[in-house]
Amino acid sequence: MRTDTPVTLFLKDYAPPAWLIDAVDLHVAIFDGHAEIKSRLACRRNPAAQASPLVLNGEALELMSVTLDGAALDPTRYACVDDRLTIVAPLPDTFRLETTVHIHPDRNTQLSGLYKSKDGYFTQCEAEGFRRITFFPDRPDVMATFSCTVEADRARFPHLLSNGNPAKAGACEDDATRHWVRWEDPFPKPAYLFALVAAKLDVLEDRYTTASGRPVKLEIYVEPGKLDQCGHAMAALKKAMRWDEQRFGLEYDLDRYMIVAVGDFNMGAMENKGLNIFNTKYVLARPDTATDADYQGIDRVVAHEYFHNWTGNRVTCRDWFQLSLKEGLTVFRDQEFGADTHSRAVTRIQEVRALRVGQFPEDAGPMAHPIRPASYAEINNFYTATVYNKGAEVIRMMHTLLGRDGFRRGMDLYFERHDGQAVTCDDFVAAMQDASGVDLAQFRRWYARAGTPRLHATGAYDAETQRYTLALTQHLAPTAYEKRLAESGQPVIDGVLHIPVAFGLVLPDGRDAPLQLAGEPAASGTTRVLSLTAPTQTFVFEAIPAAPVVSLLRDFSAPVQLEFEQTDAELAHLMATDSDAFNRWEAGQRLATRVLLAGIAAGGVGCDWIPDAFVAACGRVLDDGLRGDPALAAEALNLPAETVLAEAVVAQGGIIDPDVIHTARVALRRHLAARLRDSFEAVWTALAPAAAYAPDGAQVGQRALRNACLAYLAESDTDYLKSSVVPRLAVQLKAGGNMTDEIAALATLANLDLPEREAALADFYTRWQTEALVIDKWFSVQATSRLHGTVTHVRALMQHPAFDLKNPNRVYALIRGFCGANPRHFHAADGNGYALAADVISELQAMNPQVASRIARSFDRWRQFDADRQAHARAALERIAAVEGLAKDVAEVIGNALKAG
Ligand code: TRP
Ligand code: ZN
Repeated sequence: MRTDTPVTLFLKDYAPPAWLIDAVDLHVAIFDGHAEIKSRLACRRNPAAQASPLVLNGEALELMSVTLDGAALDPTRYACVDDRLTIVAPLPDTFRLETTVHIHPDRNTQLSGLYKSKDGYFTQCEAEGFRRITFFPDRPDVMATFSCTVEADRARFPHLLSNGNPAKAGACEDDATRHWVRWEDPFPKPAYLFALVAAKLDVLEDRYTTASGRPVKLEIYVEPGKLDQCGHAMAALKKAMRWDEQRFGLEYDLDRYMIVAVGDFNMGAMENKGLNIFNTKYVLARPDTATDADYQGIDRVVAHEYFHNWTGNRVTCRDWFQLSLKEGLTVFRDQEFGADTHSRAVTRIQEVRALRVGQFPEDAGPMAHPIRPASYAEINNFYTATVYNKGAEVIRMMHTLLGRDGFRRGMDLYFERHDGQAVTCDDFVAAMQDASGVDLAQFRRWYARAGTPRLHATGAYDAETQRYTLALTQHLAPTAYEKRLAESGQPVIDGVLHIPVAFGLVLPDGRDAPLQLAGEPAASGTTRVLSLTAPTQTFVFEAIPAAPVVSLLRDFSAPVQLEFEQTDAELAHLMATDSDAFNRWEAGQRLATRVLLAGIAAGGVGCDWIPDAFVAACGRVLDDGLRGDPALAAEALNLPAETVLAEAVVAQGGIIDPDVIHTARVALRRHLAARLRDSFEAVWTALAPAAAYAPDGAQVGQRALRNACLAYLAESDTDYLKSSVVPRLAVQLKAGGNMTDEIAALATLANLDLPEREAALADFYTRWQTEALVIDKWFSVQATSRLHGTVTHVRALMQHPAFDLKNPNRVYALIRGFCGANPRHFHAADGNGYALAADVISELQAMNPQVASRIARSFDRWRQFDADRQAHARAALERIAAVEGLAKDVAEVIGNALKAG
């Protein structure tokens, strides 16, 4: 029996577990139609907790037997209700509890617990999937050593894997067609890190020797026939292992590191101890099937899961409120790995863009929460951009405040204190503070406060005294989170934040002024990190020889919304000369936003809102792209996304009109295409590929800029488009050998109402129908198309034989592509986009609540639209809310969406 009314859990109610589990021994036997799990738990009373019965979680389990110290347990001594098995007192201080359960992995469409995918069996236990395998106190502060014997048919499942090291293997005595392998993991871990796999796979093997000389066997397992797509992931793994030794002194600790790729997976990948399970999307790559972005995604996710071995596994979370302890920190680590192995500036730009597209709107919407929420109904709903990406920003701010060495000392102390423990975010901050001597008491508020702070700045230069005075003010308005806190009678957290503001002054000649704060004996450095710790603070800089242009928040030193009036000329100066590459890009984005907001105010029509100076600045970017870094130029030419512009409209107190935003943005692109055609053409020609494809920094940047130019050229008037651009798109589609260029051409063509479009899409499908990840791209480019009728087309694609509601990658490609990345059609005035989403969510929530709930988040900003759209959105939300037995994941998201406002 389970009740699906969301129950809210509170951080303040945390209590240590009454019982500890020292060791778990599992025997998992996989049969056709069911699996049998025998579990033996070594239980021990927790001396640090209050006496209470032993409560084990269990969901969708068929209990076959329970014994305590070898004796069958009398039915009066246990109760099995509401997803819990309770063993009642009196109980000895230590005992052995054995259970046998049956489960049905073939029917597990949630992809949580043990499930079937294609011909194999896989697990996903984070956050609370282990309870769908066997009865267990399924909470991360219960850490046990695991051993696991997996047993299955030998021919169909030659590979039987689990965590740790293989200890023994053999044939089943009573049935020689079956075999078993026993695995032992010496490191205590929470149940969410348990994994097993039974499948027929191909394996790529390699070796790694750690800094201290320990040999490690590396293995990547994939669907048979895909070995030629594993090389990049293996290289990424070895790079990540070396990087963590060099940057953080952290080495791998088992004899074996396994990665298994699976086509049905709710998220990106999972860091199970010694046995990572990955979405195929983050393993498989070949130049003809994967894009530059895919290659980079693989680098980052492989590194991320590997880094979790220390930040997540060796030191884990006390409870799920602390999720950002491991996720924010591990994202920060994978970001730094990306910056050290690719371009630091481009990496940072992409991260900040992702933050603005994904996290700022979350913080402004009905699901707003701090990186350490005080409450939740369904933990799966809190694997969010806030916990991950803002969490990484919070770690980055500590890195900025402590410096690289101070931060490293903090990490060292964190591991020295907490290796083998389940701890809190406060423990992490305490280690950082104690190791560095930097007071982080006020900084801690970042963990408790939701919302994007606004940083207001004003500056004045006094030529006579050669002083520059900067005044900074911070504001953080209450969010939907504070309302939810108040409703549940929780104290609302407020208080001023500690914001590190990296700052420089750019002189008229483009050079940075040496910085000397009033009271300092001499100037030192040209970038300072100012600590804003009060609501308003003033900083005075001495000996500034000429009126400077301020470069604030260099490298985006804090996740805030900057409010600072700078003239077009000042922004253009920064764009051209700022020594901080991030702020050169940022100045361009601010200028573009300003232009686009004027265009939006003008209804998106005409082009007299486009200043020539902006066109000229874009022209200079193109020139620089040829002479300097093409990757940075490509980023600069990428105008703010429609969703980011929508938030800018909201920030000005406006109502989002997605049609006008779209029209204005396209108008600006078309204007640039017309005015800068020769430059786009010149760059496109100059950057023609000269070497065989490689996903290296130089080539990636060249392709990015070249395809950006082609996409701009595709905004040209019909004649030029037909005569000069479409033929090039066709060549790029047919040339083959390089998916980056191929999909860029297809995505561009998918926006064009030309006969070539249908033919290209049909041809692409025929060529790639056996490569699932490429077909996902085929669905995506259609879901995100600008063309009229896209909603109808998406409905038609849902009936396509290749669409499968049970496969998360397909749903993300088509449905999230439409709802999340096609704002203008999702928010269509007739409500058809919302209706489509409501249909999908209602059907999907019964199969896969986690994925359905992610789609449901598309409604977050519904109240920022006009009354008619709101009425349509409300109808869709209410229709979902009324679904019988609605999964609690979706119920929490929809409930919050309907209640806020
Ligand atoms: N811990 C994983 C990561 O960030 C995330 C993850 C993978 C996950 N699968 C999941 C989270 C399923 C929730 C549910 O690397
Ligand atoms: Zn993670």
